[in-house]
Amino acid sequence: MSNIITMIAPVNIAVIKYWGKRNEELILPLNDSVSVTLNANVMCAKTTVCVSPNFLEDEIWLNGAKESFTNQRLQNCLKEIKSRAAVERSVDDIFLTWKVHICSENNFPTAAGLASSAAGYACLVSALAKAYKIKSDVSSIARLGSGSACRSVYGGFVRWHAGVESDGSDSIAVQIANKSHWPEMSALILVVGDTQKKISSSKGMKLSVETSDLFQFRVQNCVPKRVEEICKAITTKDFVKFAEITMKDSNQFHAICLDSYPPITYMTDTSYKIIEMIHKYNNIHPKIKIAYTFDAGPNACLYLLEEEVPKILSLIQHIFPTSTPDKFITGLPIQHEKIDTDLIKIFSQPHQKDLLKYVIHTKIGDGPTEVIDGSHLLNECGWPTNL
Ligand code: DP6
Repeated sequence: MSNIITMIAPVNIAVIKYWGKRNEELILPLNDSVSVTLNANVMCAKTTVCVSPNFLEDEIWLNGAKESFTNQRLQNCLKEIKSRAAVERSVDDIFLTWKVHICSENNFPTAAGLASSAAGYACLVSALAKAYKIKSDVSSIARLGSGSACRSVYGGFVRWHAGVESDGSDSIAVQIANKSHWPEMSALILVVGDTQKKISSSKGMKLSVETSDLFQFRVQNCVPKRVEEICKAITTKDFVKFAEITMKDSNQFHAICLDSYPPITYMTDTSYKIIEMIHKYNNIHPKIKIAYTFDAGPNACLYLLEEEVPKILSLIQHIFPTSTPDKFITGLPIQHEKIDTDLIKIFSQPHQKDLLKYVIHTKIGDGPTEVIDGSHLLNECGWPTNL
């Protein structure tokens, strides 16, 4: 007898960034954050969990390779799942003694640094929660794996409340609006070729908390106001306000990185070229049309409404020429538009070739879903199907 569950979970990209913890072990943040969940058909983590009396030990395989189960964050997630199951009496006591096999993979390159841990932990925890029949909020369990993962537990627009309790009981994610509230919301991920060696988010934010003076100012004076304003902009579908706050918050996050000591630089020259292009584009329109945001890496996530997608894509192709045009735009299909020559004239000469690796076109999406077509990553005996 065994229990096998497979789920897929989406990536989320924050518009108000989570940066800084008040508790490292419980992963409790110092500020609220807000994000948009992206379509899991384009970018997702897929995880199969299998619980069985036949397994001798807990085992995990990630992206085709066996990994150690001693990882503290992974252990914390499984421990919390089991203790919730015990409290909720959702499974038999004997089930809690059985070992678990986990196999997980991302359908996008992990190397690109695209919120893979958020999708990965959200998927792992959602699958475990299903296997152990947990009814209570799972965002606080996903949070134990990676802070940003708690927001991938919901679709649409999501707010992670920092909470004030020392045990983290009120540090949970809540959906602000689902994807159908603003279905025109689209995203373009601009994958920058030049992948710098970077310091991890966990280490980076710790350094900022310890050394940046601007950090305290952000947490106390900027984020609370911005969170309220962006939640209102989302509820009222005010794109201009949404975009302005998104860009300002990304810029402030990177300013704090630079104010850390020694400074942390996640963005590259290409990232700044993208920022320049977006501001120029917005300036020639009466209203802001596109927002950019950058996580702990050089890749941009652009938020824009559907109608703007073909135009900006043709501009991107002009400004950032590629030597692999047939592989340059991936993700959801787009309607190609003839390049607007008046628009091009306003912009400078194209940059050198291949500054951008490729672009992913996607939209707002749902939270984790169960895969019911039987395409598990573990076979009936609980071993990876691809090894
Ligand atoms: C810049 O969630 O990766 O993407 O909680 O230590 O695992 P840990 O950090 P992580 O940090 C994400 C930071 C960010 C901003 C955000 O997603 O809000």
